[in-house]
Amino acid sequence: MSANQRVSVIPQPVSAETRDGAPFTLAPTARISVAGPGAAEVAGLLMAELASDCRRDLTVVHEPPVYGDIAIVIAEDEVAEEHRAEGYSLTVTAEGVRIGAATAAGAFWGVQTLRQLVPVECATDPLTIAPLSIRDHPRFGYRGAMLDVARHFFGPDAVKRFIDAIVLVKVNHLHLHLTDDQGWRIEIESWPNLTAHGGSTGSDGSPGGFFTQSEFRDLVAYAAERHVTIVPELDMPGHTNAALASYPELNPSGVAPELYTGSKVGFSTLQTGDPTTDRFLADVIGEVAALTPGPYLHIGGDECLSTSSEDFLGFIAHASALVASQGKTAVGWHEMGKSENLPSGTVGQYWDFLTPRGSSGDETLSFVRQGGAVIMSPADVSYLDIVYEDGDRLGQDWADGPTELRSAFVWDPARIVAGLGDSHLLGVEAPLWTETMATVEDVEEMVFPRLAAVAEVAWSVAPADTEAVESARDFADFADRLAALGEHWAAAGIAFRRVPGVPWRDTVSA
Ligand code: ACM
Repeated sequence: MSANQRVSVIPQPVSAETRDGAPFTLAPTARISVAGPGAAEVAGLLMAELASDCRRDLTVVHEPPVYGDIAIVIAEDEVAEEHRAEGYSLTVTAEGVRIGAATAAGAFWGVQTLRQLVPVECATDPLTIAPLSIRDHPRFGYRGAMLDVARHFFGPDAVKRFIDAIVLVKVNHLHLHLTDDQGWRIEIESWPNLTAHGGSTGSDGSPGGFFTQSEFRDLVAYAAERHVTIVPELDMPGHTNAALASYPELNPSGVAPELYTGSKVGFSTLQTGDPTTDRFLADVIGEVAALTPGPYLHIGGDECLSTSSEDFLGFIAHASALVASQGKTAVGWHEMGKSENLPSGTVGQYWDFLTPRGSSGDETLSFVRQGGAVIMSPADVSYLDIVYEDGDRLGQDWADGPTELRSAFVWDPARIVAGLGDSHLLGVEAPLWTETMATVEDVEEMVFPRLAAVAEVAWSVAPADTEAVESARDFADFADRLAALGEHWAAAGIAFRRVPGVPWRDTVSA
């Protein structure tokens, strides 16, 4: 057994070693000692976690640590230059816990590692941690999860709960799929009917809903405090029935369709090349860009089966240029790579299978040819809405059959599209489409545990032999670590699925 395997953390850290000696024990007198820019904010979040999970009240002090303290130190030389953006170190000895990082983001990921090492019984039992030493940094800067709030709407509280859960496995981008045939979920002040009418229902006739601009700003700020960037998506020119139902003038026919509550795709399109549509585009892209401090604005572009090829190309060139004119980087599903007129730097999101079919690989390479990078979301392993096994109540099964946990873990993003290696990849994202998910519990059942597998693919070092990923990734070791993480999920009340093949432990009461 390597030293790595004795420290149970997901994603697997770059290096983790247990040390000899007495454990750290959190005493009632312990404090969180902070130094450096942003350390107090990270400490505040750790303090809140220890209060809610462990009923320990620690104070944050701007003083050097003394015996028994938890120290968070942010300074450039804490981390090697090439890993400063998000790297951290964590040492635990009897004398104290010390997290070192060059940035608040790095320190925050160190805190997430620490949270996984804190015993779940910490509210009633002594809080002890065996001595260890970790150095860690991510393989990819973009580690994403996508939540489709268009099919079924999930409001601000549900999304905050989702953010709280994803950061524990160091996911740092939340892509919100805000618009689709079934609903428009973000208030646009200049086009109020988009939400007043287009947000009034959802899949299966569910009640719908939308974020006001003030709720959305609050969500963006909540995410940012947790080092998560929100990536808003306005899916266009297909997947637009909710917009078309709200404004007849956006339709090629000039007639508004009914609101849609089914699960078909590919039947809707904006009228492209039209002055009203162009005004709509400038307004919605402008308002969403203004709400978004993050660098990305996703404009979809997938499954435009009712848009002619010529119209599609014209639309994508125009919409992506509008995004760039707002100072944002456009992101699009890989079909957008059909365009040779993308603003330099446009990001493509690949959603075909591990083995590309048709032109999906070439469309993905097109983003790199045009100076951009790629996010990998292969549907047959990273789509969280695909059933775990045949006959499941939740999910769909179109992506090459069920996706077991093992499949979500045993793959490598640099072995999918020939010619696309780590240097072309922004990162990895696991999307959840919610046609069949109506509740937070439904969402959590589909997302956990598979998101933990995809998060490890995105964060941890590439397997030594990526030619043979099957044998290079140690699923048994992952499953052991997952059992420990499952205890934390259970304590947090997360409705994760106890899939077979993992030595889950008994549920602990919170
Ligand atoms: C997609 O799954 N239509 C991106």
